[in-house]
Amino acid sequence: MGTAVDTGRLAVNGGPAVRPADRPWPVWPVPAPEAGRYLQEVLHSRRWAISSPHHGDLFERRFAREFADYLGARHCVPTDHGSSALVVALESLGLEHGDPVLVPALTWAASATAVLRAGLLPVLADVDPETGCLDAAAVRDEPDVRAVVVVHWAATMADVPAISAVADGRGCAVIEDAAQAHGARWLGRAAGTLGRLGCFSMQHSKVLTSGEGGAVVTDDDALAGRLEELRADSRRYRDDPREGELDLRETATVMGANFCLSEFAAALLCAQLPLLDEQHAVRNRNYDRLAEFLADVPSVRLLRRRPEQDQLSLYEVPIVFDRLPAGMDNAWAAAALTAELGMRAYPPRPPLPRSPLLRPWTKPALAPLTERFVARHRGRTFPGADHLASHSVLLHHSAFLGDEQDMADVAAAVAKVAGAA
Ligand SMILES: Cc1ncc(COP(=O)(O)O)c(C=O)c1O
Repeated sequence: MGTAVDTGRLAVNGGPAVRPADRPWPVWPVPAPEAGRYLQEVLHSRRWAISSPHHGDLFERRFAREFADYLGARHCVPTDHGSSALVVALESLGLEHGDPVLVPALTWAASATAVLRAGLLPVLADVDPETGCLDAAAVRDEPDVRAVVVVHWAATMADVPAISAVADGRGCAVIEDAAQAHGARWLGRAAGTLGRLGCFSMQHSKVLTSGEGGAVVTDDDALAGRLEELRADSRRYRDDPREGELDLRETATVMGANFCLSEFAAALLCAQLPLLDEQHAVRNRNYDRLAEFLADVPSVRLLRRRPEQDQLSLYEVPIVFDRLPAGMDNAWAAAALTAELGMRAYPPRPPLPRSPLLRPWTKPALAPLTERFVARHRGRTFPGADHLASHSVLLHHSAFLGDEQDMADVAAAVAKVAGAA
């Protein structure tokens, strides 16, 4: 805890800002050079959805191939949202209604609401306050879980091989929620390809985006067929498409729903994907620079990156103020940084155990699962997630698409705010 606080010279209190108001930040999203042309192609293609009569190739199938190749996965099944990707991934496992599924306490609500939507019971586990992710011990502590949703949080990867070593021995499936980690790599292997299934979101704020969108990847041929049906009302692609007929045939081995990606979104993703690694290179270079600048600022840290993680994928960069001044919280630090930088800095969402977005009791149809959910979490504490949620300030990855001066400004603003502490 800090003591006396001199905040008078902070921009949030009317002092001079670190960054001149006329120096703009990079904008997000960045449309790829081919984006307009591909969207026009869809517009005149007579195919705006995969459930349209065959007439030329679908962008959706092209994106599935290209994203699978990019990640090094055998199969990719695109979906309309990352949340639906998680739902179909969980459904594809064929678990029993109400089976427990481990979910980290620090993540977007969809990591857990998808579990409920799949008829399963989310069991929340604390995260490591150094990495923000689940570790293998959390899985060891919950011997009855049948699956684990491992989230690669914000800027770091969870140790999926270590988690799988515990889970595999128990017949517990590992699903990677890589919604925040497109292109992150662990000893050369992409996030999403280390577990049994990997799920991605292509919502507006993500590093690969089509506004809304998602995908599931797997190397498992049997799961891939089920995933296709689960996201397209029990239908799979035909091997022999015929002009004027639907590409989808009613194989119906498992009941699905319509979670299909639109052709406009798929076209945009085909255009955006080639930019991803160039953008990673810029962001990661800037992140390393920021880490150097911040090394001299006491009581402020970035998340710990495991040495096995050989490629970062920054989604939101947490700056952890381990010792906030007395009477100040991270919402104050976020407002102070925003005022210094002229760019939105924000605190993480509350951990799921106290998130207003995870309230299954508001849906009567979930009643039996809700009772078990409430009983299972009564009296539990989540100190790792609570610490990060109450001591971090997040910066969106687009802030890292500029140059070294931007990082110098961020570091100066962080030092000023921490110094006021
Ligand atoms: C970790 C995580 N999982 C799942 C999702 C859900 O993705 P979508 O918003 O595309 O449904 C998100 C989106 O923010 C996310 O960050």
